[in-house]
Amino acid sequence: MQKIIVAIDGYAATGKSSQAKRLAKTLGYTYIDTGAMYRAITFFALQQEPKGTLNLELLVAALDTLQINIKNTDLGQQTFLNQKDISQAIREPDVTSKVSEVARIPEVRAFLVEQQRALGKKKGIVMDGRDIGTVVFPDAECKFFLTATPEVRAKRRHLEQVSSGNQESYEAVLFNIQTRDRMDSSRATAPLKKAADAIELDVSELTIDEVYERLMAHILKKTTTL
Ligand code: DC
Repeated sequence: MQKIIVAIDGYAATGKSSQAKRLAKTLGYTYIDTGAMYRAITFFALQQEPKGTLNLELLVAALDTLQINIKNTDLGQQTFLNQKDISQAIREPDVTSKVSEVARIPEVRAFLVEQQRALGKKKGIVMDGRDIGTVVFPDAECKFFLTATPEVRAKRRHLEQVSSGNQESYEAVLFNIQTRDRMDSSRATAPLKKAADAIELDVSELTIDEVYERLMAHILKKTTTL
């Protein structure tokens, strides 16, 4: 079967990454969570002195010194920054609360979009993010845009975090999701929006399996008609 590019965009915590990972596994494709790349750059920025603050000018000047590698293992996707495994650190609340500020910088986006396009050059990729169907791969054969109410998303993300030992409250998770949605949708460069030819799916009332089955049905229809 001909290999294609599957682009999954949508709001924070709609389950894009879990779906992308599962679809890629079934299809024998590479899975790339581009949010992890923006998080890696944010992690780097927060590590610079004075720690915990963002100096965006210095960050832009340092971009060329950053090497971000994504590896898919049995443990899931691992993210490396200059050979250091930062997979856990990029999920911490300090990174999550600052990542949208970093993701709106045009130089940061240009730096990452180039790498993302290189990763998809041979097709056979499922990539999730905010601008994959609109900017990174406008010609992707299959594009999805996932939505859900902020409350459903916050509830799911909060449960996930509780089971991985994170102490953030439901209210804090909801606030972060709504703030990021607003910043990601309103930025000047590559804002979060549905590509005209993307299939929109509201996952609020659907189980993970139901979402997966719908996405897979569209992909199979697409690959068999190429
Ligand atoms: O998918 P995520 O929640 O891990 O993404 C973290 C942030 O990165 C998100 O709030 C916006 C930004 N992002 C982006 O601007 N473009 C992408 N393609 C992926 C993520």
